Amino acid sequence: EQLKQEINEYQSVSAELTEAFRIKYLGTKGIVKNIMGEMKNVPNDRKKEFGQILNEFKVFAESKYEFLKESTNGSTKASATIDWSLPGDPVGVGSRHPLSLVRNQIVSIFKRLGFAVAEGPEIEDDWHNFGAMNLPEDHPARDMQDTFYIHKDPSWLLRTHTSSVQARVMEKQKPPIRVICPGRVYRNETVSARAHCFFHQVEGLYIDEHVSFADLKQTLYFFVQEMFGKDVKVRFRPSYFPFTEPSAEMDISCLICGGEGCNVCKHTGWVEILGSGMVHPKVLENFGIDPNKYTGFAFGMGVERIAQLKYQVNDLRLYSQNDIRFLKQFTGAV
Ligand code: PHE
Repeated sequence: EQLKQEINEYQSVSAELTEAFRIKYLGTKGIVKNIMGEMKNVPNDRKKEFGQILNEFKVFAESKYEFLKESTNGSTKASATIDWSLPGDPVGVGSRHPLSLVRNQIVSIFKRLGFAVAEGPEIEDDWHNFGAMNLPEDHPARDMQDTFYIHKDPSWLLRTHTSSVQARVMEKQKPPIRVICPGRVYRNETVSARAHCFFHQVEGLYIDEHVSFADLKQTLYFFVQEMFGKDVKVRFRPSYFPFTEPSAEMDISCLICGGEGCNVCKHTGWVEILGSGMVHPKVLENFGIDPNKYTGFAFGMGVERIAQLKYQVNDLRLYSQNDIRFLKQFTGAV
């Protein structure tokens, strides 16, 4: 009984003490072994009683040892002792890429307006990228988008815009159609601070009865206000795209210099952020949509440009260099 009490007082979490406990009670020269050695001196008629008590004590000491071992994390070696007060190793938490952040913001704004997300292949055929978009083979406007062709086979190419995804949607779906198409596109441009051979777009398409240019303007105006705040100014300029008529480009007041004049807005105070227009009747006909019944608008914007304005990124190459010093600045942004 006295020994039991002694054992009860062991509460340590240290590995050294646990090991000392083992040696003292359970070791080859320990107390348990020692008392067992006494067995031969016990008179025969009391051997049974003595044996029971001894066994009970042994089980008790063993379970205490297991308990102590657990409290030192299973180890009885001093070197493996854990100091619970030490600060932990930092765990590197990643951050979202700025282009993903901005893409997600754009998508969520248009989702609130009822647009669904559509995706398609990056390797496209000529029809979906150009033909269906009212750019037949000899169309001079093909030069607007310097195209990468696959193995010099002009029937396969890397898509130059995600209008190709809109083509695939119109192929499968009847109006009303309301989709946005985010994705990577490719153009054969010399890489510099202002141009890259690949970039990201979000294009949109809305086709229904009675869709008007006023709807187009209001939708894009809403988008800009949600994206950049209420103070940003907007202007539409007439433009040309083979797949829209009329066409317009939209500028916003420069967020980099606030209109003072800088390289991003080429000292005009305005930055172009997207192309847009009313879907050309030829495009609707290409997909068996009656242009007398349905009208639609389309738009396309570059994610890099929007992110540049939002986060003041002055060199397009930063987006794809994977420089941790650049990427880390977006930690915590959602
Ligand atoms: N597809 C055009 C481009 O990549 C953008 C655009 C889309 C313009 C829809 C008008 C309408 O430049």
